Amino acid sequence: MSAGLGREARLRELGLWPLWRLRPPKADASLAAETGGPAAEVGEALPADDIAGLDWEELIPAVRACTRCPLAVSRTQGVPGVGDRAAEWLFIGEAPGADEDRQGEPFVGQAGKLLDAMLAGIGLQRGRNVYIANILKSRPPGNRDPKPDEVAACLPYLERQIDLIQPRLIVVLGRIAAQTLLVTDTPIGKLRGHVHKYRGVPMVVTYHPAYLLRSPADKAKSWEDLLLARRTLAALKSGATP
Ligand code: URA
Repeated sequence: MSAGLGREARLRELGLWPLWRLRPPKADASLAAETGGPAAEVGEALPADDIAGLDWEELIPAVRACTRCPLAVSRTQGVPGVGDRAAEWLFIGEAPGADEDRQGEPFVGQAGKLLDAMLAGIGLQRGRNVYIANILKSRPPGNRDPKPDEVAACLPYLERQIDLIQPRLIVVLGRIAAQTLLVTDTPIGKLRGHVHKYRGVPMVVTYHPAYLLRSPADKAKSWEDLLLARRTLAALKSGATP
């Protein structure tokens, strides 16, 4: 077996990939009872290497119907993202919630309303020079935190989105998304206020809008983060390196 192979390719060589397969739907209601949702179709999971080569027209339906992790069983649909596919700004959240799962678009619930207000605060509007996506494309049941295997299965989609969009700046929303992308357990209070990089793209961390709804006192800090993001992008466009 060649040493340069990725984990997925190595497991495939051993006949161990995909790691997880959907079971054929059970005839009775027991599956829905177990999973909280209807059975997804049985399907061969799309390999990460294939995701890296998808164009938008292939990526969107692949995400909507994705079966790369067990969340496919309980979610209504995969939620790819929304906005300008040539945007300078990319906002990345954690995972769809109940509203997003139903409507197929990120940040359409209460947190999304606050996100829209945050965008407006720095002169942005959903869909105009902004793309909004999540780390997980499928809703975790009960909005629990993403599991590492779900993140590993889903991240190739976000990576492909970043490669296709080629944003100038990423704003990552919330502790879990920030810690996942930066592969750290540093608290969000220490991650914010700095310009990081993700896949070579400058990235600013701020609080998740759902957290800000619960802790409005931190809105001022989030505003500072957005101003940092705006300054960083302005500096980039003027030719300065952040
Ligand atoms: N929270 C997120 O992180 N993403 C959404 O799309 C909705 C709520």
